[in-house]
Amino acid sequence: MTATKKLYVKTYGCQMNVYDSERMAEALGAQGYEQVDTPEAADMILLNTCHIREKAAEKVYSELGRLKPLRAAKPDLKIGVAGCVAQAEGEEIMRRQPMVDLVVGPQTYHRLPAMMEALERGGKALDTDFPEEDKFAHLPRDRRATRGPTAFLTVQEGCDKFCSFCVVPYTRGAEVSRPVERLLGEARDLVERGVREITLLGQNVNAYHGAGPGGDEWGLARLIRTMADIDGLARIRFTTSHPNDMDDDLIAAHGDCDKLMPYLHLPVQAGSDRILKAMNRKHTAAGYIRLIERIRAARPDLALSGDFIVGFPGETEADFQATLDLVEAVGYSSAFSFKYSPRPGTPAAERAQVDPAEADDRLQRLQALLTRQQRAAQDAMVGRTVNVLFEKAGRMPGQIVGKSEYLHAVHAKGDAGLLGRIAPVRIVESGPNSLGGVLA
Ligand code: 5AD
Ligand code: SF4
Repeated sequence: MTATKKLYVKTYGCQMNVYDSERMAEALGAQGYEQVDTPEAADMILLNTCHIREKAAEKVYSELGRLKPLRAAKPDLKIGVAGCVAQAEGEEIMRRQPMVDLVVGPQTYHRLPAMMEALERGGKALDTDFPEEDKFAHLPRDRRATRGPTAFLTVQEGCDKFCSFCVVPYTRGAEVSRPVERLLGEARDLVERGVREITLLGQNVNAYHGAGPGGDEWGLARLIRTMADIDGLARIRFTTSHPNDMDDDLIAAHGDCDKLMPYLHLPVQAGSDRILKAMNRKHTAAGYIRLIERIRAARPDLALSGDFIVGFPGETEADFQATLDLVEAVGYSSAFSFKYSPRPGTPAAERAQVDPAEADDRLQRLQALLTRQQRAAQDAMVGRTVNVLFEKAGRMPGQIVGKSEYLHAVHAKGDAGLLGRIAPVRIVESGPNSLGGVLA
């Protein structure tokens, strides 16, 4: 028998990459690769990359630079680049870093086993196609592997929205929804392996429109309601959504589907209608606020999260003030905010850019406001009792940590036997990034 080969996977970027990395590791597992925790221990290193902002893409080239001595010391070591940088840069990666053996875009992971065979024969492999078939259907699964209590499940990929700042429509391609039965099967399989909470993933997850068992088209709400019938599955979340795809049924589900958690990530990006138009967002600030009111009418305790971009081309101080006003009006329990980063090939990259120092200053001011809101939302939990799904041991002895329904990290003193279980916790303290509580 040949000795097991060792695989090291490093994942950058979004949760979809986390899911993709798991599936790639499982597929390579079927080819005799076992996952290891350090690049030094590996025979194959796979970087699953992100191209969303410039910094994310640069990290890949610095990581490749760091791997050079490792490869020099171990000539048989194989190095692969997957994900959105692979898609966007293609052959350029091999030109800049000739030691790279494999470049695979996000839509061709199912061809990875064949590509690995080419590598083992001493060749190189590159595939950045956008094939028609469902890549996940062709990736072997390792059904024996047990799972932690939470898992991601990709239900749709790609995006047809073409926000003028965003590379996703180019790197992940057109919007494709996976069929309902395949997703329900995967969800049941995850639950049998110990998963209690599933987060449905998609770049534009609420645009989901997969083929149902009878050939009719299902929206995300119907998928969630049906998945909620799976015994043993306790919680469902979904991310990331576009405001224009929040249909009535999905709004209603936040009020009447018990397993759907009261947390919603709904990016607005900016608060100025002029900038929203330049971003090609196809919604207004007032329209977004009205939408939030409707969702909160269905689920008053909803915790809201969002994404913001500051320093988008053409953004004036008055436009930026409109973003601050929107944040004040909405009230976020958490949020992500970024300085605009011109992405090659996207429309906004060609426009006159905002002074970087000005953009930095705006980012700081926005983040100060968002941090205040986040702290206020956390502080308001003190004294309340929330249900926590315990996921792992904490840093302190005897401590376990998990997530509340609202996605707050919560730690409490408790027995490891509670891991994978949901228990009520009375919140007694609010820290910068987590809540502390006692089992109720
Ligand atoms: N510059 C800065 N932020 C960006 N995002 C997407 N593209 C860019 C860009 N070019 C942000 C958006 C999106 C999140 C995933 O990343 O806020 O919602
Ligand atoms: Fe990018 Fe999201 Fe806009 Fe699609 S909807 S282009 S993924 S920001």
